[in-house]
Amino acid sequence: MSLRFETERLILRPFEMRDAEHFAAYRSDLAIARYQYWHPPLPLADAIRFVKTMQALQPGTPGEWYQIAIQPRHLNHLVGDCAFCVLSEDVRQAEFGITLAGEYQKQGYAGEAIARLFRYLFSDLNLHRVRAICHVDNHPSARLLERLGMRREAHFIDYYWFKDRWVSEYWYGLLRSEWESSL
Ligand SMILES: CC(C)(COP(=O)(O)OP(=O)(O)OC[C@H]1O[C@@H](n2cnc3c(N)ncnc32)[C@H](O)[C@@H]1OP(=O)(O)O)[C@@H](O)C(=O)NCCC(=O)NCCS
Repeated sequence: MSLRFETERLILRPFEMRDAEHFAAYRSDLAIARYQYWHPPLPLADAIRFVKTMQALQPGTPGEWYQIAIQPRHLNHLVGDCAFCVLSEDVRQAEFGITLAGEYQKQGYAGEAIARLFRYLFSDLNLHRVRAICHVDNHPSARLLERLGMRREAHFIDYYWFKDRWVSEYWYGLLRSEWESSL
């Protein structure tokens, strides 16, 4: 099933080969990568390989991250991506993440995209719970998750070794029942 949604201002759609260049550009931005698992820069050849991998992947495959392009309706290119992974250890739960290119932050696009993603995960995939993990210094991310109604469930201290230091993280969760009562 191909995944495509529209919101008031956004189109959420599968990755296309034309996205590789923009994707490589914002994933190469040091500020964007600061709290993320990847190490910039992202060469174009790797971005092209990434798009091919996404095109071959079925959304919702347990244990596999599926990345969705975020494109404002008034533009003809993506400005970021959101991703989810149904947990292989419990297929009624998923983790998600989101990245926006710097110039497209602070306009509410991330909140709008994830609100739509929640509808897909809870309503279409019928999941019980979603979670998100955020570096404790990643304040915009924590604000976003809290604005979305997620509950901070854990604060892990010096939890794992990441980019040459011990990192502390917040874990956030949201149940389908909580999401339903927020509608
Ligand atoms: C995490 C991330 C996506 C959050 O982006 P964001 O731009 O802060 O979130 P939104 O797009 O929902 O925008 C909300 C902000 O825009 C403001 N805003 C402006 N116009 C708005 C509008 N029309 N509607 C809603 N919010 C609007 C809000 O007040 C809010 O600002 P605040 O956080 O200072 O209060 C972004 O910081 C990012 O891509 N970071 C790098 C990657 C990363 O670390 N990801 C985290 C993975 S968990």
